[in-house]
Formats: sequence, C-alpha cells, structure tokens
Amino acid sequence: MHRVVFLGPPGAGKGTQADQFARELGVPHLSTGDLLRSAVAARTPLGLEADGHMRAGRLVPDDLVLKILRERLGQPDATVGYLLDGFPRNLAQAEALGKFAELDRVVSFDIVPELLVRRLSERRVCPTCQSVYNLSSKPPNVADRCDADGSPLVQRPDDRPEAVTTRLKVYADQTAPLLEYYGTRKLLRSIDASGTPEQVAERVRRALR
Ligand code: AP5
Ligand code: MG
Repeated sequence: MHRVVFLGPPGAGKGTQADQFARELGVPHLSTGDLLRSAVAARTPLGLEADGHMRAGRLVPDDLVLKILRERLGQPDATVGYLLDGFPRNLAQAEALGKFAELDRVVSFDIVPELLVRRLSERRVCPTCQSVYNLSSKPPNVADRCDADGSPLVQRPDDRPEAVTTRLKVYADQTAPLLEYYGTRKLLRSIDASGTPEQVAERVRRALR
C-alpha cells in the first residue's frame, strides 16, 4: 500500500491520522494545504496568489495546486509512494492525478458537520513547527504554548466561522463527488471519523489492509 489518498471534509482528522500512517507506511505525508501554507509564509508568487483563496475558504486554482504538488512528487522521497492529504479535491484534480499515478487506496473520513465545526473552532497550530493542537482533545501542556518550541499558538485564518462555512460548502459541492468517482473504481474505503484519534486510527488501519 504505497499510494494512498485520505479524503474527507475540513476538520475530519486527515492530517492527524496522515502524520501517523505516513510513518507506518514509510512514505511521505503530502498535504497540499501544508505545501500551500508554506508558500504563503515564504511569500512566493504562488503563495501570494493562493493566500486570498485560502483565507476565504475557497479552493486554490487547479493549475497552482498541480504545480506545487508535481514539484513535491518529483523529490526523491516520493519515489517509494506517498500519502496524499487534501488532494485531489475536485474531479479535474482526480483526473490529472490519474494521468501520472495509479492509486492503491482512497480512505474517506465520514463525519457529521457538527463535529467538524467543533474540531475546527478548537484547533490551534504552532506557527513555528506547524504542530497541531486542540483545546479539548489535544491541549498543549502549557495553555496557548507549543509543547515542542514554546511558540504562542495561533488559529488558522481559515478556521474562522465565515471561512469554515465556505469550506464545508466547497467540500459538499466539489469534493464529495469524488466518493462516487473512486467508489466506481473500487479504490474507496469509508471509515467513521468520529470518536477518539486512537479509535479512528484503528479504523484507518483496517481500511488500509
Ligand atoms: P487543508 O489544509 O487541506 O484543509 P482541510 O482539508 O480543510 O482540512 P483540515 O486541515 O482543516 O482538517 P484535517 O482533516 O486535516 O483535520 P486535523 O487532523 O487538522 O486545505 C486548506 C486550504 O488550502 C483549502 O481550503 C484550500 O483553500 C487550499 N487547498 C488545499 N488543498 C487544495 C487542493 N487540492 N485544491 C485546491 N485548494 C486546496 O484535525 C482538526 C482538529 O481536530 C485538530 O485540532 C485535531 O487535533 C482535532 N482532531 C483530529 N482528530 C480528532 C479526533 N478523532 N477527535 C477529536 N479531535 C480530533
Ligand atoms: Mg489538514
């Protein structure tokens, strides 16, 4: 199992699980959201163009996302495979990916919107090392400080309520059709993404067998 996609709405826990499973599978965790946030932080031309779309909760245009992903897939560690988190996100991206990769499995994270809104409103991130926390399910040892480097934690700009509403709608309109796309290709396994991270990890492990 070397080429895997984690598909699911914002806040479903894709990134949390992908960190762990990329290590277990021995492949890099490739999050297009993380790649884009790095480009925004570095103020590259691509990052500057992506920033407004991300803040508003809209998808970044396909050509920009494909460019950044192709560059990352060209790095040596991705020759053994990869765990894609947050890509593809619409049919055009799925078709573009299909032209250069044969996937082994797509794991869909199923969860009710109320839990997503709660997880996103409680998420805090470290701007220095990108560690992800949650005020109730994964609080830092010292309030508002990163356990790893002590930086003050921040909220992702797109975790504000207005952007969250847009992101959930974008998922339903543009990304959810991929469930059928991968279902008909016999690649899809759906898991219940509610419950503790450990319970979800066990379901992901079964879905990857
Ligand atoms: P991206 O970064 O991909 O965000 P997303 O898909 O909206 O998903 P999130 O990262 O918000 O959630 P997650 O599922 O990773 O949850 P997490 O594990 O952090 O994309 C951001 C933006 O970039 C997009 O809106 C778009 O603008 C752009 N973009 C990215 N890819 C693109 C693409 N392919 N095309 C176009 N544009 C693109 O968990 C959330 C919180 O819950 C955390 O606090 C965590 O600690 C907690 N948590 C996790 N699991 C549990 C659990 N089981 N129980 C309790 N709490 C939990
Ligand atoms: Mg994520």
